[in-house]
Amino acid sequence: MTLEAIKYHNGKLQILDQLLLPTKLQYLAIEGVEDGWKAINTMQVRGAPAIAIVGSLSLAVELLKDNFTSKKVLRQEIEGKLNYLISARPTAVNMKTAAQSLIALANKLDADPSADVDSMRSRFVAVIEQMLDDDINDNKSIGHYGAISIINQSLLSDGDSPNNNGNSDKITVLTHCNTGSLATAGYGTALGVIRALNKRKKIERVYFTETRPYNQGARLTAYELAHENIPAILICDSAVSALMNTRRISAVIVGADRITANGDTANKIGTYQIAVAAKYHGVPFYVAAPLTTIDLSLPSGEHIVIEERPDKEMTYIAGSRIAAPGISCWNPAFDVTPANLITGGIITNKGVFATSELAEKIKQINAATP
Ligand code: MRU
Repeated sequence: MTLEAIKYHNGKLQILDQLLLPTKLQYLAIEGVEDGWKAINTMQVRGAPAIAIVGSLSLAVELLKDNFTSKKVLRQEIEGKLNYLISARPTAVNMKTAAQSLIALANKLDADPSADVDSMRSRFVAVIEQMLDDDINDNKSIGHYGAISIINQSLLSDGDSPNNNGNSDKITVLTHCNTGSLATAGYGTALGVIRALNKRKKIERVYFTETRPYNQGARLTAYELAHENIPAILICDSAVSALMNTRRISAVIVGADRITANGDTANKIGTYQIAVAAKYHGVPFYVAAPLTTIDLSLPSGEHIVIEERPDKEMTYIAGSRIAAPGISCWNPAFDVTPANLITGGIITNKGVFATSELAEKIKQINAATP
């Protein structure tokens, strides 16, 4: 049975409250944009694609409840609410990407004489509802392209590794944070690649980090991997270099919150140090993300706004204080991995690209898309 983190049916939206996982499986009703904003900001839902989908669906829920006197009023409401949703968390670009295309759609429908206010609303909501299926399909494509690329790369490099365990047709990967069904509409990005490798019976083992301070790895990825019976081992964030030094790791695969035109990638804090360790140990490093995570408006990673979260997320675990009182903290939620450390490539729903060719490829894909 697949894990359903976002449930939507006929204008009713529920999300699995990720603050309570894995001890409690409890759904939370999202009644409108205010609830959507709060769930994103407090990380009851998290993961770049899931943020955009839940944010957009929260708008759909609200639009279906309200009455609008004119298309102009509806259009203004849509634009205002979407801009508000973007402000819930600044680093992941997916909510902004969704908002831009939904605002463009609202403008188009407003200008379309064949649409009255009710049909404008229903056509607009239908596009949001489609995001769930689109995301799952995109993730399956990411899984397909990623699995093929990693299998091919691993065949090429087998035998070279000093730590080759002799079981050379199988692949051992390392991942960070949570990029699975809980972070997307389903299937996942980096975890989708792992799923696709596992389906092809290529996974020897998945190592994954705790991902302090929010513990997306220990709480959420562990939950998903156990749910899928994928052989997996949890490590502390600080064990990454030792792991690469002592065991054969075929590839690192992580997700992304924003990828700039030159391939620099913002992802969960700790990703950068894993990429540095991977480069040192000669382990290919892949980023897996849908095209909606690529932000060609930013030339490079230093332009990405990095969210800083409350000290409390570091000093407390499950309500118990673990840090000595009176200490100051620095709690950036993300870091930026420079493109030159992304040695395996960027796995997208349209193929796997080297960071150096990314912007050109995306422009070509966009130009060919009607
Ligand atoms: O703070 P989070 O949990 O929202 O951060 C999530 C990540 O960094 C993920 O790796 C990223 O959003 C990709 S999810 C498919």
